[in-house]
Amino acid sequence: MTQGRFVSFEGIEGCGKTTQIGLLSEYLKQRSIPHLITREPGGTAVGEGIRKILLHSETLHLTAASELLLFYASRSQNILEKIKPALERKEMVICDRFYHASMAYQGFGRGIPLDFIHKLTDLVCDGFRPEVTMLLDIDPEVGLARARARNHTRIEDEGRFEKENLEFYTRVREGYLELASQDERIQLIYADRPVEAVHQHILTLLGLL
Ligand code: TYD
Repeated sequence: MTQGRFVSFEGIEGCGKTTQIGLLSEYLKQRSIPHLITREPGGTAVGEGIRKILLHSETLHLTAASELLLFYASRSQNILEKIKPALERKEMVICDRFYHASMAYQGFGRGIPLDFIHKLTDLVCDGFRPEVTMLLDIDPEVGLARARARNHTRIEDEGRFEKENLEFYTRVREGYLELASQDERIQLIYADRPVEAVHQHILTLLGLL
């Protein structure tokens, strides 16, 4: 039942999506359910190179348009090299962020018109859209505090987005909530709860319990 399914995880910084993806992957491994975990930006050699440009705190003067196009360049490679082949092998695909992140961050956050982002999504993702999106919702103040604390212990510098202010993250969060209110494939999950409770909620939504 899980084979060939495409699931994405979304939410602002510090919402716990990477932890939840790890737990889901463990659960699937224990049951020998074949799956692929990938992330955006990243997931491929080109994508990981783009990730460094997009997330490094020393990347300066990136225009909103450059940022958007780089995210979609990474996504295009991820679909061709990872997502499409895995779905063809009938594996479940779990993607740490997908096009909803571009709508929330570059659309609601940076102010790029959503109809332009829709067109890019049609061009790049046509036929490859998650059937379920887990939106982990958290108060931006709580999420940002978690993310900034974590970044002190990271080896790689991925701090460019964490330098944005609370207003930016509030716009992104509200954007995600608006997207969820318009699209029944987006599952809204309250994330300021114990990790295990969120994990069980996700398993239930996926029909795995
Ligand atoms: P991610 O690796 O998920 O970071 P974290 O684990 O800290 O949430 O995402 C990297 C950053 O890139 C994050 O700040 C969100 C941003 N982003 C966009 O702005 N647009 C996009 O399309 C994607 C995929 C990510």
